[in-house]
Amino acid sequence: MIYANYAATTHVLSPVVVKELRDYVSAAHLNAARNFEGLEAGAITLRARRAVAKLFGVADPLRVILTSGATQSLNMAINGLASPGDHVLATSVEHNATARPLECLRKCGAIELDWLRCEPDGSLDPQTVRKAIRKNTKLLVMTHASNVLGTILPVAECFTIAREYGIRTILDAAQTASGTFSIAFDKSALGASSLAFDKRRAIQAEGGASEDGGSGSGGSERAGPGAAETDLGGCCDVMAFTGHKGLGGLAGSGGFVIGEDAAAAMRPWIRGGTGSVSDSLDMPEFLPDKFEPGTQNTIGALGIAVSIEEILRGVVEKIREHECKLTARFIAGLRTMKKITIYGTGDAARSVALVSIVVEGYDAGDLSRQLFEKHGIITRSGLHCAPLAHMTAGTYPSGAVRFSFGSGTTEGDIDTMLLSLARI
Ligand SMILES: Cc1ncc(COP(=O)(O)O)c(C=O)c1O
Repeated sequence: MIYANYAATTHVLSPVVVKELRDYVSAAHLNAARNFEGLEAGAITLRARRAVAKLFGVADPLRVILTSGATQSLNMAINGLASPGDHVLATSVEHNATARPLECLRKCGAIELDWLRCEPDGSLDPQTVRKAIRKNTKLLVMTHASNVLGTILPVAECFTIAREYGIRTILDAAQTASGTFSIAFDKSALGASSLAFDKRRAIQAEGGASEDGGSGSGGSERAGPGAAETDLGGCCDVMAFTGHKGLGGLAGSGGFVIGEDAAAAMRPWIRGGTGSVSDSLDMPEFLPDKFEPGTQNTIGALGIAVSIEEILRGVVEKIREHECKLTARFIAGLRTMKKITIYGTGDAARSVALVSIVVEGYDAGDLSRQLFEKHGIITRSGLHCAPLAHMTAGTYPSGAVRFSFGSGTTEGDIDTMLLSLARI
C-alpha cells in the first residue's frame, strides 16, 4: 500500500508518540483544574502549550489555546472577532472550515463578505488585499496553503497590509503548521526561541548561506525550500492549527495561538465550566480559560506535545527538503504523460507537498478508486472540503485527484505512482 493522503491526515504516529499515549491511557484519567489530583492533566496541557509556543515562536505558552482542531479554532476566531456590520475578506481558496462560518454570518446579515480572487493556480497578489479594503473592513481570514492546489499564499505580506489599516487577521495553518514549515508568530520571536531562527542559525553555523541574508526582518517569505519560512512579524492575530496532519498528533486535537491584544478583544464563542472563577456566570478573562471551557482533550494534547518535542529535537528537520524533492519528481513525471492536467503552480518550492490532477476521460472518484483497488495507492478525490478552491482552479464540480506526500513517502513510491498512472 502507498499512502498519498498526508494532506488529509498523517496516518502513522511516531513510535515515541505511541508509547507515551499508551502509557498515559494505561494509567489513571484525571480532569485538569477540577481537583488537586488533576494536576497531572494540567501539566500535560501546559507541556503541549510550551511545545507549540516554542515551535511557532510564541512568547507566552498561555496564548496557546487547545481545541478539537483547526475547524473549531477558525469558528471560534471568526465568531469571536467579527462584529455586526463588519466587512470581512477571505481568499477564494479557503477550506470550508473558514468558508462555512463566514458564509453563515453573511447569510444571516451579520457581515459583508468578499472573496479575494486567487489566480487559477492558487497564487495571490498581496495588493489584491489593499484594493479590496473598505472603510468597514475589520477582518482578513486566509489559508496559509491551499489544501487543493498546494500553493503557499503570501500571508505575511497580506497581513502586513491589513495591519496598516487596523484590520484583524486570522490564519488557517492547517496545511503548514508542522515540523516542515518554520512559522514565527510573535514579533518578539525574532531573536528568541522560534524554530525558524534556530534553524537559520544552524545553517549559518554549518557554513551554509542563510536563505535571506540573515536579516530576519518581518513579513518575509522566500522561494525554494526557504519558502517554508514564514515570519508573521506579529501581524497575525490568530493562527489556527491542527494536530493530526503535519504535527503528527491525534485526530480531534489542535488549537490556535493568539496575540495579546486579540486575546483581550476576542469574545469567547463556546462557554462553560473552566474550574476557575466558578462564582461568576461569565467566562474568565484570563488565558487559557477564556477560550477553553469544558473538559480538555488531554490525550490529544499529549500527542501534540510529544510529537512537537521530537520535531524540536531536530528529528524531522530535513522533511521540507525531502517533500520538495518528491513533489518536484512527481510533477516532472506527470509532465511526460499525455491527458493529465496538473493544478497548482507546478513548482514544488512554492507549494506544500501535494499535487492535484485530472486525467482526461476519467471521473476523479473512479480514478482514485482504481488507483486504490488495482495499485494499492491511497489518494483523495472530489472537492476536498474546498469547493471555492475548485471553482478558482476550474475543477468544480467534478473535482480532482489529490496526491499528498509526507515523511514516510519514498522516491520509489513516487515512481510507482507515476507508473500506475501511466498504466491507467
Ligand atoms: C486548509 C484546511 N483548513 C482546515 C482544515 C480542518 O482541520 P481540522 O481537521 O483540524 O478541523 C483542514 C483539514 O483538512 C484543511 O486542510
